[in-house]
Amino acid sequence: MKVLVIGNGGREHALVEAISVSPRVRKIYCAPGNAGTAQKAENINLQVYNVSGLVKFAHEQEIDLTVVGPEIPLMIGIVDEFQKNGLTIFGPTAAAARLETSKIFAKQIMQKYGIPTANFVLCENRSDLIVATAGKAFPYVIKVDGLAAGKGALVILNATDLANAIHEIYDEDKFGEAASQVLVEDFLEGEELSVFAISDGKNFQLLHAAQDHKRAFDGDKGPNTGGMGAYAPAPLATPVVLENARQMIIKPMLDGMLKEGIPYTGVLYCGLMIKDDLPSVVEFNVRFGDPEAQVILPLLESDIIEILEGSARKNIASRSFKLKYQNACTVVLASGGYPDHYEKGKEITGLERVSREVCVFHAGTRQEAGKIVTSGGRVLAVTAMDPELPAAIQKAYTEIEKINFDNKHYRTDIGQKALIRMK
Ligand code: AMP
Ligand code: GLY
Repeated sequence: MKVLVIGNGGREHALVEAISVSPRVRKIYCAPGNAGTAQKAENINLQVYNVSGLVKFAHEQEIDLTVVGPEIPLMIGIVDEFQKNGLTIFGPTAAAARLETSKIFAKQIMQKYGIPTANFVLCENRSDLIVATAGKAFPYVIKVDGLAAGKGALVILNATDLANAIHEIYDEDKFGEAASQVLVEDFLEGEELSVFAISDGKNFQLLHAAQDHKRAFDGDKGPNTGGMGAYAPAPLATPVVLENARQMIIKPMLDGMLKEGIPYTGVLYCGLMIKDDLPSVVEFNVRFGDPEAQVILPLLESDIIEILEGSARKNIASRSFKLKYQNACTVVLASGGYPDHYEKGKEITGLERVSREVCVFHAGTRQEAGKIVTSGGRVLAVTAMDPELPAAIQKAYTEIEKINFDNKHYRTDIGQKALIRMK
């Protein structure tokens, strides 16, 4: 079969790699892709939001399955358009993608179906926000309703944070339309866990649960990023925690969406806070995480096509579904300065010296005159696997030392939380 992957990050490179080992696949395209996806797929010069161009391409090339990486094309209805054109595609419709694209929509569904999440107050303007926060005990969280590239949750620890948040939202208009509605949410205590359910609308299968490292610097310090590293399966995800996540969150959520007439297909990424084995929802995303995909996809034992196609064709329950009994750790190599200002165009050297046992997933890379150069904030993600998590972490760190580019930055403590838990 012929498969089209949409996106150009490390997540999409991980998708292309996983798809390339399927015996059923004879050709992969990636739109627009990067220097890493080009190793196993043909990169196509179509941007992720060019839905009509992508539909036309899928028709012309007789694509059997399209897999969407990022949220933007989902938000603008790529799944709806492909389906209207009789094309098979993995991902949620625009209406179902509102679980990520509108935090208020997600909260309302959770409230209606009794799914545990932080209590919240909805604010339509500055004075609502001032009333909602007056006298409220710190800490709490202010969230803008719409997509904000992972920067739309402001943890408020004191009066200065509150004043800054009000200034950013209403004076600087930093979030634009995304902040036309805002939530004030109670602070959830606990430890964060990312759980990934692949759904066909009715039934679902769970992938390994992962932990991300969102802050730029060691010790969870510095600004929020897209994610600086991850590991899976997370020791926090005990059988009891996973069963609670299934029964208290994923099943009622998918059943609720079905009742609403908005069946959810694709991957439901549940950002959970775990306390005393009980999960609460921090957020939903409607796509694979990046860099979580770089650890959970290499841990699939079954053919990934079975799972993606099972979701898209609404027969996931009948598909083979096995996970590897291995651990994976991925460390992101970023351009110094990310997520704020950073330079691009730095030559990346040493890639050929990296052990073939690890996967080097490309994110912000580009080919230029026979060289590979940096072209984004997150440049590469290096994933190592091992039956034991400490060894997987060690292997990833050994291999990244072989890769160099000017101003390379990475966290040195990916996976440390898990090691502490395992002691
Ligand atoms: P979000 O954009 O909703 O994923 O939030 C980004 C990050 O802010 C999360 O990964 C959490 O670390 C933190 N966060 C968001 N909401 C809450 C909450 N209600 N309680 C505690 N931390 C939160
Ligand atoms: N790594 C966090 C995300 O993909 O949203």
